Amino acid sequence: MSPLAVRNPYDNADDDDSHHGEGGGPDRPLLTEIDHIAIAVHDLGDAIDTYRETFGAVVEHREVVESDGVEEALLRVAESYVQLLTPTRDDSPVAKYLERKGEGIHHVAYRVDDCAEALAAVKAQGHPVIDDAPRPGSRGTTVAFVHPRAICGTLIELVQE
Ligand code: CO
Repeated sequence: MSPLAVRNPYDNADDDDSHHGEGGGPDRPLLTEIDHIAIAVHDLGDAIDTYRETFGAVVEHREVVESDGVEEALLRVAESYVQLLTPTRDDSPVAKYLERKGEGIHHVAYRVDDCAEALAAVKAQGHPVIDDAPRPGSRGTTVAFVHPRAICGTLIELVQE
């Protein structure tokens, strides 16, 4: 058989939707892009300077997200971002993270077409979530966090633009 005849497992054009979510999981990839890699830092200004001086990186967006107790700076890398993240108050989850682990990768954010759909897929597999429903994120996005103990030890954020 020609390799060209091998069926793309994501190509379910002739399947109906009736068994969607049963064992086999979603019928197409739900993660469409890396939205950002978030890095927890003690001092946002210092971190921005380091990225600029080392890599010539430019801040595209800066925002205080009061509900999460963080200030973030987004540095564009192709279609994705590095997000430098610092706490704005002592009881912020990022403050606790820095206390426990020091600076480093805090979460990975995947872009999705539909945050509610992706979150439902996570719950359908029985994985614990932090956000039970999608909520507003920075830049006018809609986001939901999946618990770090759910999937491969990584705090995951689902981002719908
Ligand atoms: Co994020």
